[in-house]
Amino acid sequence: MHNVGQAGLTFWSPNINVFRDPRWGRGQETPGEDPLLLKVAACCKHYTAYDLDNWKGVQRFTFNAVVTEQDMADTFQPPFKNCVSNGVACAMCSYNQVNGVPTCADGGLLAGVIRGDWKLNGYIVSDCDSVDVLYNRQNYTATPEDAAAITIKAGLDLDCGGFLPSHTLAAVQGGKLAEAQVDNAITNSFVVLMRLGFFDGDPRNLAPYGNLGPKDVCTPENQELAREAARQGIVLLKNFDDALPLNAPAIRSLAVIGPNANATRTMIGNYEGIPCNYTSPLQGLSAVVTTVYEPGCATVKCSPDDLKLDGAKVAAAAADVTVLVVGGDLSVESEGLDREDLLYPGEQGTLINEVAKVAKGPVILVIMSGGPFQIKQDKANENISSILWAGYPGEAGGAALADIIFGRYNPSGRTPFTWYDQEYVEQVPMTDMRMRPDPASDYPGRTYRFYTGNPTYMFGYGLSYTPFYHNLVQAPEKLSITLEEGHPCYSEGCNSLELSGSAHCSGLQFDVHLQVRNSGGMAGSQTVLLFNTPPAVHKAPRRQLVGFEKVFLEPNESKNVVFQVDACRDLNVADESGNWKLPLGSHVLHVGDVTHTLTLSI
Ligand SMILES: *[C@@H]1O[C@H](CO)[C@@H](O)[C@H](O)[C@H]1NC(C)=O
Ligand SMILES: *[C@@H]1O[C@H](CO)[C@@H](O)[C@H](O)[C@H]1NC(C)=O
Ligand SMILES: *[C@@H]1O[C@H](CO)[C@@H](O)[C@H](O)[C@H]1NC(C)=O
Ligand SMILES: *[C@@H]1O[C@H](CO)[C@@H](O)[C@H](O)[C@H]1NC(C)=O
Ligand SMILES: *[C@@H]1O[C@H](CO)[C@@H](O)[C@H](O)[C@H]1NC(C)=O
Repeated sequence: MHNVGQAGLTFWSPNINVFRDPRWGRGQETPGEDPLLLKVAACCKHYTAYDLDNWKGVQRFTFNAVVTEQDMADTFQPPFKNCVSNGVACAMCSYNQVNGVPTCADGGLLAGVIRGDWKLNGYIVSDCDSVDVLYNRQNYTATPEDAAAITIKAGLDLDCGGFLPSHTLAAVQGGKLAEAQVDNAITNSFVVLMRLGFFDGDPRNLAPYGNLGPKDVCTPENQELAREAARQGIVLLKNFDDALPLNAPAIRSLAVIGPNANATRTMIGNYEGIPCNYTSPLQGLSAVVTTVYEPGCATVKCSPDDLKLDGAKVAAAAADVTVLVVGGDLSVESEGLDREDLLYPGEQGTLINEVAKVAKGPVILVIMSGGPFQIKQDKANENISSILWAGYPGEAGGAALADIIFGRYNPSGRTPFTWYDQEYVEQVPMTDMRMRPDPASDYPGRTYRFYTGNPTYMFGYGLSYTPFYHNLVQAPEKLSITLEEGHPCYSEGCNSLELSGSAHCSGLQFDVHLQVRNSGGMAGSQTVLLFNTPPAVHKAPRRQLVGFEKVFLEPNESKNVVFQVDACRDLNVADESGNWKLPLGSHVLHVGDVTHTLTLSI
């Protein structure tokens, strides 16, 4: 695309903000609510504690995120730390303020942490246009020149927008900024252009990328990759009586119902590329069996006027099986648009209930959305056999759904966020950044790591068509830490050890060996998630993902999975001041139903 003038070589993506609140309109762009999962490369955005767009009149441009040092250390910063220390070329500072300072003007966060502590080898860019926003909308500086000076001094190298080009020269001439600091910012940006080969001559002569062109776009391999990504991402949440997979030869008619049943553009979500071709759910399913299509609602917003129940009910009552495809689209969740509740938009809930009531055969509910809805009623509804969450599955989403529904693929996706009930969002304002519960004010905490309630489905949940069993083969039961003579923990007792600059970590690495067995008749992948529940000190998370592996298993096959655990890196917790500590006492490691207690002592 670059070679034919259709794209650049630097991409201000991905969005790696923690999906902290289920209402966030941009949650669909992220890998989910767990800080460990967000381990990726490119230009990581939006630094930091940014995950509110436009909620009940609170705007990202002026929002001041009030964040504790502890939540900063173990929730908001780890994705960016992983990203920068794994060698990305770029980080983007956000619009919002963190504890009263715009992130793009915060020298501690930019020059101090990103470039200093994490050793960024590349450039820091503003969001478009955070510098203008901090001057014009936050009134953070008295003059535009001050805004230019304060951000460049803080460590900003490049402005997405026209603000620095317009005001930096005057800032230097007015003595607010040294020319050397501008040179430094330009150097950081040009280093990346040099690395990309911008000064190596005619790109057409440069192997291996110079000859790439339209013939390399939308190849069969590319399109198969899109379909495989969608298959891997779809999550099976409920499958009563093994209603899925469907046996295609036995189905004479399939009713395909719902506002997303023939979705195309909706499937590619926010910050999309240009698709090669779409296969909607209706098209994917119709390629396998005879279908009858009834949208039920003309639009995702599904106002009472849009609801067309009669045709949908007739179709469901006559068909051997009903597939209902509901959910969201960019009209209800997107950049600049957070949701206010977790209920299905408009009358979609009525459509689901009424169709499920009269359906002749099993009802397969497919939810296409970026964020979660309240679905406890569908989980409990005996007239709904199966629930699949498809996310926004991309251009091949309908083909991938058909692969799963007809058993050509054994689902292995896991939900990247927690499915809360509507009461949750009535209890928790989106603007409250606290991750940890506060019983005194009935604040339930956020995400699977801290939430004290019972969600409908928790982060990491997902079924397959075959049962997989886990068996612990080997893991230590005790780890002993030797402290130097006179260490205060001997006399005073300790529930955790300070980690910074300590020599206590040697010998605290170990392996956890698990055997995973596919005991069913269908080949498939199992996603093995290893969690730790640390001792309850320092308001530690209730559970925390330590690592994950995906293993492919033939029927009856077993494989061993090994997790290499370093206690100081993987079992540590941030204390109330954001310092990393190793809790002493019982850590409970768990994978599925298997639990193992490991005791750390001095
Ligand atoms: C910034 O100043 C303008 C003009 O005085 C005012 O309307 C606006 O409310 C101020 N914004 C903030 C966030 O203080
Ligand atoms: C489904 O969507 C495709 C693409 O927008 C369109 O061509 C087709 O007519 C739709 N099918 C039905 C039955 O409406
Ligand atoms: C695009 O997808 C549709 C639906 O799956 C399919 O019928 C059609 O052949 C595809 N077109 C191309 C050019 O691949
Ligand atoms: C399920 O369907 C039956 C039969 O139509 C109906 O009586 C019942 O109310 C339905 N259950 C729910 C939860 O809608
Ligand atoms: C799996 O193992 C069981 C018990 O050993 C055996 O009865 C069954 O035929 C095997 N299935 C396959 C698909 O190999």
